[in-house]
Amino acid sequence: MSTPAIRAIVALIITVVAFAAVSVVAGSAAYDWLKALHVIAIISWMAAMLYLPRLFIYHCDAEKGSKQSETFKVMEGRLLRLIMNPAMIVAWVLGLWLAWQAGFWMSGWFHAKLLAVIALSACHGYFSASVRAFAEDRNTKPASHWRLVNEVPTVLMILIVVLVVVKPF
Ligand code: HEM
Repeated sequence: MSTPAIRAIVALIITVVAFAAVSVVAGSAAYDWLKALHVIAIISWMAAMLYLPRLFIYHCDAEKGSKQSETFKVMEGRLLRLIMNPAMIVAWVLGLWLAWQAGFWMSGWFHAKLLAVIALSACHGYFSASVRAFAEDRNTKPASHWRLVNEVPTVLMILIVVLVVVKPF
């Protein structure tokens, strides 16, 4: 089994154990505790999603094969594997559980949030493929491309937070 698959399984196991522990310890307050965990996971996911394209911007200016370029590769790989991937898994698992518990499946705001989160996850997939491209010195995109792409998670995050907090429809 590949290392990312093992990490994904470990993140899932930690989430399930946290679920069980919170349900037993917190009882009827479990929803609020798990919502707090969901928000903590989202903060970690978004921090990484906003930082990674900034690393790509600086990486574009580093000469291929240079010490600086190799350092960026290590930073990007670690950010993706240690923070971005596990945080996304935990956010998804807890978010779906919250929606199931509260019965939000038929709410318009939830459908819109889900669409925006799927777009955010697609953006995650693109960043993940780009980490691989940079690691193999295959990136052909200029820094201006990464500056523009950097705005996508920001716009989606604003949309998602307004939808879930205001619930406008
Ligand atoms: C990954 C898939 C996601 C699902 C299925 C999901 C689902 C949910 C659900 C059902 C709630 C509970 C809402 C309530 O109790 O009123 C919630 C809370 C929240 N979610 Fe998500 N969410 C996801 C991802 C995200 C993302 C990406 C963000 C931000 C960028 C986000 C931000 C929040 C915030 C701030 C709350 C707390 C809202 C409040 O208490 O008023 N979620 N989420």
